[in-house]
Amino acid sequence: MSLKINLISLLTGGMSFLACIMATPAGAKEGVWIPATLKAHEKDMRKEGLEIPVDQIYNENGTGLNNAVVLFGKGCTGELISSKGLILTNHHCGYGSVQGLSSTENDYFANGYFAKNMQEEIPCKGLTVTFIRRMENVTDRILTGISDTMKDAARDAIIAERIAKTEKEFASATHMDAQIKPYYEGNQYWVAITETYRDIRLVGFPPNGIGAFGGDVENWIWPRHTGDFSMFRVYAGADNKPADYAKNNPPYRADQFFAINTSGYKEGDFTMVYGFPGTTKEYISSYELKQVYSIIDPISIAARSRKLDVWTKHMAWTRENFLKYTSKRAGVANGWKKWQGEVRGLDVNNATGKKELYEKGFQKWADTVQDMPFAKNILTDMRKSAQKADALIRQDQYNKEAVLGVELIQQGSAAESLITCFRLGLPKEQLEDTLKKLAANMGGFYKNYDAATDKDVFISLLTLYFTKCAAWLPEEFTTEYRAHNQDIVAMAEDVYSSSILASQDKLNAFAAAAKSGDSTKILADPAWLLYNAINTMRKEKITPFLKDYYTHMHYLDRLYMKAQMARDKKKDFYPDANLTLRVSYGKVKGLDPEGPATYSFQTRLNEVVALDDSTSDIFKVPKKLKELYRKKDYGRWGVNGTMPVAFIASNHTSGGNSGSPVLNKKGELIGTNFDRAYEGTMSDYYFDPNRCRNISVDIRYTLFVIEKFGGAGWLIDEMNIVKSQGTSPKSQNPKSR
Ligand code: ARG
Ligand code: GLU
Repeated sequence: MSLKINLISLLTGGMSFLACIMATPAGAKEGVWIPATLKAHEKDMRKEGLEIPVDQIYNENGTGLNNAVVLFGKGCTGELISSKGLILTNHHCGYGSVQGLSSTENDYFANGYFAKNMQEEIPCKGLTVTFIRRMENVTDRILTGISDTMKDAARDAIIAERIAKTEKEFASATHMDAQIKPYYEGNQYWVAITETYRDIRLVGFPPNGIGAFGGDVENWIWPRHTGDFSMFRVYAGADNKPADYAKNNPPYRADQFFAINTSGYKEGDFTMVYGFPGTTKEYISSYELKQVYSIIDPISIAARSRKLDVWTKHMAWTRENFLKYTSKRAGVANGWKKWQGEVRGLDVNNATGKKELYEKGFQKWADTVQDMPFAKNILTDMRKSAQKADALIRQDQYNKEAVLGVELIQQGSAAESLITCFRLGLPKEQLEDTLKKLAANMGGFYKNYDAATDKDVFISLLTLYFTKCAAWLPEEFTTEYRAHNQDIVAMAEDVYSSSILASQDKLNAFAAAAKSGDSTKILADPAWLLYNAINTMRKEKITPFLKDYYTHMHYLDRLYMKAQMARDKKKDFYPDANLTLRVSYGKVKGLDPEGPATYSFQTRLNEVVALDDSTSDIFKVPKKLKELYRKKDYGRWGVNGTMPVAFIASNHTSGGNSGSPVLNKKGELIGTNFDRAYEGTMSDYYFDPNRCRNISVDIRYTLFVIEKFGGAGWLIDEMNIVKSQGTSPKSQNPKSR
């Protein structure tokens, strides 16, 4: 097996560019496209199987399906599935909000939550969803008259001013919000006209045994068995516009929402994903890519491995700790595993080697091209700049992951606000009052903090830091270390027992009794001292240099992008993802990355039940689900006595696409995107159609869980369910807004 992998990776590594193109399976499409430019792809999308006009997917009349896709919170996607503002997204996208509503008495992670009627829907403070009503290319208004090679600071200032002015004009003309963002590394600018709703309520959330089934073990992995969905509802003012929470707000009235198609799909069927991919960097140089995969990723992986080991151990000890750390753990582990897949995928594909080859060709062109004199020096400049920055990037990655990854040290930053308070020279009562308020504001942090857990993280991470960064240790760290006879455990004991930041109680007690001279107590606090030392070191020795480096690289990236587009006029370049609305398209397709293990494109409930392990926190199948399985009680949603759970397709997606609607050739909903396969997580830098797959929950599993497990059939009644792919659904004949 391992020989086989090696042989294959050697082969792929050495494969010529041409061979790679020839190996591209039909229907696997790289690209996250701006919906407003889909006209240019209509022919190709039709060829791949799309059966509706693209202006049904997006248009500016208010009748496009873009009005049924939302940015959910700050980094996920959601889709409208009823005229009453019902939104479907991922379980892991709702996780943070549900944590705020959950307690040991009302443990929605263990038991799930399904409202029985609208009155039972629970407001989620702080949660928002944003609609993209329209997008427009405003490049001319932003860039006209500005030279390409003008240096960034001056250029940025002019651009920022024009952006602010143009956004204002759009906002006042539309009575909505307007945001302008750069595309193609700043070679284009687009405005998005948006509406952000802020009265959002929890409707349905399966227990972790379904919604997070397989946990971090199955995360980023295909085959996958997670029912990663949850439901919310948007509420609006009487005028259907965004409004603050009010008990009597009516549900948002949606003219556009997705019809749900339950007849399934087969391998090779056309699919689209409509959502908000966060970041891709497909056009960077080999030098920047090397920094990612040989410096940034490996350091982050090493540091997080340590932190996760400690957290996992402590979370298993008490339910209280589990609840405190479960959301944080998911976040930290998510990047940790993705980066491992990324490093491997970039390696197996020899992505830097391929970039180097491409760069040779680019250089040849640049040496002779007449009208882009700047092109000649871009790559040399990039190489030199990157090489100079490598050591600083390495060091700062340790600072961020191994030092500031300790929660107490990170919390040292909070001491800064306390110190500022003392500096104001307030009279005693006012001082106490302000400090008490500040301390109370930190409640959110302490609610999910356990000092004993964090102390073990401190021990583990600082051990890594001391061994890897010997030449860079701030004096405060070495002094403390020596003062404790180079015993990191003793140092940790001391820091955690004496810091007033180690618990909410200590902090409150300090605030309640504070006198004007007490700032000295904070200034001597060990957590503050460590934070301040690392912060000062970064401020003096790292950040300014890295800031210059990234500014310069950004300047070069923009020119490089422009030159690449000029060199290859026939190629259809898509702009890198930037958390704006995009469409990807591809096909339902199994995964056969490196030989014998061929993975089908679909998983089923029998596989979930086969994984059941009552001793495991993440593989324990809820009793009720097992009963439904035993009785094959699948209602309308089963397929010949089986229950589909998840499926994969070759759509180009990224972080932020979580919760995105996965659509068939008619634009009907067949699933909800929630992940990528491990083999293809490098697609943020390099898309390999043979290995890159997006993973979705099958909509039939979602409906089954809502109705049969959650007993919330009343929600199904709101939806527009269509069976055969031939029917034309209600919501796809939209009224105009
Ligand atoms: N990997 C998916 C994403 O990037 C899912 C993350 C949530 N699941 C988990 N087991 N942590 O968001
Ligand atoms: N799970 C990811 C998210 O939260 C989406 C999957 C991906 O990165 O492809 O956005």
